[in-house]
Amino acid sequence: MPAPYTIRRFKASDMDRVLEIERASFGKDAYDRKLFAEYERKCGGLFLLAEGSRTVDGYSIACVSGKYSSLVKRGSLVRRNDLVASLESIAVDPRARGKGAASSLLKSTIRRLKLQGVHRITLMVRRSNAVALQFYERRGFTAVRRAPGYYENGEEGLVMRLTL
Ligand SMILES: CC(C)(COP(=O)(O)OP(=O)(O)OC[C@H]1O[C@@H](n2cnc3c(N)ncnc32)[C@H](O)[C@@H]1OP(=O)(O)O)[C@@H](O)C(=O)NCCC(=O)NCCS
Repeated sequence: MPAPYTIRRFKASDMDRVLEIERASFGKDAYDRKLFAEYERKCGGLFLLAEGSRTVDGYSIACVSGKYSSLVKRGSLVRRNDLVASLESIAVDPRARGKGAASSLLKSTIRRLKLQGVHRITLMVRRSNAVALQFYERRGFTAVRRAPGYYENGEEGLVMRLTL
């Protein structure tokens, strides 16, 4: 039975805990304080935390891009929605994995994106990250493109996509 998580927005006082989770999850590839602050500024509404009964166990960040546009087609005005999102990062404290924190974060992100009219979310994952790959596949993401040499160590990335 998964632990119940409350999903809420990031606030400045959460920064130290997010950095702890980040370093424990990504080591030398961890994002730094400055980058998280930048994400907060740009994508704050979708910088989310999974809060358990005592601590914050995980975070995720998604950013929306694109726009609504209007065009005239056969004499009538058509509104087109080009809004898409990217999952910039998601990580859970290694001691709290397998309890549903990431699932709750993703579910809440998708719910919020749908409310904004976003119809697609993409992400980039390391080919060697079997746990994350399986996590995304089991939640409906499919690999749509390879990105050879995307990571600093030359490793290939995989672009995955989910239609909402
Ligand atoms: C990928 C990651 C975010 C998943 O977080 P999580 O909170 O463990 O995910 P959940 O508990 O919601 O789901 C994990 C799945 O693994 C299973 N699992 C069981 N025991 C587990 C364990 N000890 N550790 C991890 N997963 C476990 C869960 O049952 C679940 O299975 P399901 O897909 O059939 O539902 C987490 O492993 C992580 O932070 N990894 C390092 C950072 C990373 O790679 N991020 C992604 C970059 S693209």
